[in-house]
Amino acid sequence: MSAVEMYEIMKARLGHVVPDVELRYKAGIADQILRLKQERNAVILAHNYMEPALYHSIPDFTGDSLELSRRAAQTDKDVIVFCGVRFMAETAKILNPGRTVLLPAERAGCSLAESITAEDVRRLRLEFPGVPVVTYVNTYADVKAESDICCTSGNAAAVVESLHSDRVIFLPDEFLARNVARETGRRIIFPTRKSRRKAGAPENLDYQMIGWTGSCEVHVRFTVEDVKNARRQFPDVVVLAHPECKPAVVKAADFAGSTMAMVRYVQQSSAKRYLLLTECSMGDNIAAENPGKEMVRICSLRCPHMNEITLEDTLNSLKLNRYVIEVPEDIRVRALRAVERMIAIG
Ligand code: 13P
Ligand code: SF4
Repeated sequence: MSAVEMYEIMKARLGHVVPDVELRYKAGIADQILRLKQERNAVILAHNYMEPALYHSIPDFTGDSLELSRRAAQTDKDVIVFCGVRFMAETAKILNPGRTVLLPAERAGCSLAESITAEDVRRLRLEFPGVPVVTYVNTYADVKAESDICCTSGNAAAVVESLHSDRVIFLPDEFLARNVARETGRRIIFPTRKSRRKAGAPENLDYQMIGWTGSCEVHVRFTVEDVKNARRQFPDVVVLAHPECKPAVVKAADFAGSTMAMVRYVQQSSAKRYLLLTECSMGDNIAAENPGKEMVRICSLRCPHMNEITLEDTLNSLKLNRYVIEVPEDIRVRALRAVERMIAIG
């Protein structure tokens, strides 16, 4: 494919979302990336939050965390370029110790992954002996290594139920945990929060989940007022929320699901208007794929970590072989068990 052909493809998809001058420039970079990708026998995986020009040009596969983990597990390429954040690239490395995994920007982190350490998990295990630990995939490899099983927003409730345990430790996202607790009819406590129990009063032992107080710096900012305002202005709007949003926001929405579940919902629904309570680029990506459907633009919340990944960085990543993701072998083998158990649950 030539740069001109790439430009035509991008224009057809993004002509109404991205200015023409930007499209021409980015098509040139995308074309170089595709050539290098072939030379290096690489696969490019891109999360749904990638900026539209990247999302619609270079990836072999796009998707949510679960889908991309599955793709990483299945690849036979020498190099995996992960257009997403560090914990996602680490998961790909955990599954592929013999392949080179590249993250195009060194600083692409995640507020959830930063919120908990392996030592925190070890302490919780001592406090709640014998209780299985579920960790959201938005954590670093050493935290995964301390866990029994990982989950994503796409299978969190199914993972909790699969354990058939009276109690489950669920880390580190407070709101995802609260949403799963509501969905599965469990009561949740947060041991790091100071108890308001009066001195001498008996402890309420009726709880089935133990949570942590991490949150996503993007999703925490959506409010019930946002939903009400959108419904006032557009009475026919369908509201989709990511389960990292607060439970009251999820309750006020029409549907909650992973980024991939939202993509599918819009594809399969005949409604004309949608409000997506998630990271902004995804609205642009879905709008480009569904020309007859309108995404209501109240959103200006871009994940600063996902935003680190650009086409320019992806080109340099393949050219300069950077940034190589490594996971120490003793951590990797322990994390692998938890990740493989997660992938097995659809
Ligand atoms: P998904 O797995 O739903 O794509 O979510 C990943 C994420 O980081 C959401 O903020
Ligand atoms: Fe992390 Fe939130 Fe960004 Fe997702 S959107 S990568 S959870 S900070």
